[in-house]
Amino acid sequence: MTVRHFLQIPDFSRQELLDTLDLAARMKRGEYTDQPLAGKTLAMIFTKSSTRTRVSFEVGTRQLGGHALFLSSRDIQLGRGEPIRDTARVLSRYVDGIMIRTFDQQDLVELATYGSVPVINGLTDLLHPCQIMADLQTIIENFGPDLRGVKVAWVGDGNNMANSWINAAYMLGFELRLAYPAGYEPNAEILERARAGGNVITTHDPREAVAGADVVNTDVWASMGQEEESAKRARDFQGYCISEEMMETGSERAIFLHCLPAHRGEEVTEGVIEGPRSRVWDEAENRLHVQKAIMARVMGGVG
Ligand code: CP
Ligand code: NVA
Repeated sequence: MTVRHFLQIPDFSRQELLDTLDLAARMKRGEYTDQPLAGKTLAMIFTKSSTRTRVSFEVGTRQLGGHALFLSSRDIQLGRGEPIRDTARVLSRYVDGIMIRTFDQQDLVELATYGSVPVINGLTDLLHPCQIMADLQTIIENFGPDLRGVKVAWVGDGNNMANSWINAAYMLGFELRLAYPAGYEPNAEILERARAGGNVITTHDPREAVAGADVVNTDVWASMGQEEESAKRARDFQGYCISEEMMETGSERAIFLHCLPAHRGEEVTEGVIEGPRSRVWDEAENRLHVQKAIMARVMGGVG
């Protein structure tokens, strides 16, 4: 039997993505009480910090009947140089799935290649697919299940979040406008593949991206691992702060999303993140539901 992974959004078909989002909504409403992970263990490897990913995966595994192991790279031999491929083969003898948050996407691919259990991407420098799934669930809660009628704006760095948004637009066909400063482009290959569909637009003008958008979305300017570039990035991202005034140029129904953690006064104002259009707490909650749906599919044989 083929092992299913969730390393990037296109690892699921369009229908599988929609079914996963539907299952996540049913889980949130309390309509799904099965325990597809009963007796199963998820290993969670972290080489970067986390609040939401760590807690939501651990709690979610428990709610599905399973058990989660938190493995910080500070404590396991991986952090002392044991190869990923060895770690993959050893962990596969003990556990039923591995979630990893790390730097290099290649390490994730190596884990999936050498391991024999499902691997889930809990963030790499390139991608953050579980977050975008939670964001899509939040969008559906606000605007209904037909994502193709929704205009999404991304304002900020062409980072792991932006790349996963592009993958989502490519798979699901909604309009995505990305505004980033020159020099902060998203991954060229991911962008090229999606551009062929005609629904992904890029600009260096945040106002052009936000005008008429239903979803206004941003992230920190310096991601984990880029802390030493913070001062330069703060200069390069001038004009990229999502303010109340910028939100007003969105559509009448516009909502604000941010994967968190947020830097108030940098990429977003206090007024926007705490304001009536903000859905960031629902978005954070949805990490739990959508990751449960992803685990049920890849580890629990559901769907
Ligand atoms: N959004 C997100 O992934 O949060 P954490 O870094 O806290 O996991
Ligand atoms: N782009 C951010 C997302 C954090 C959840 C980072 O990689 O640090």
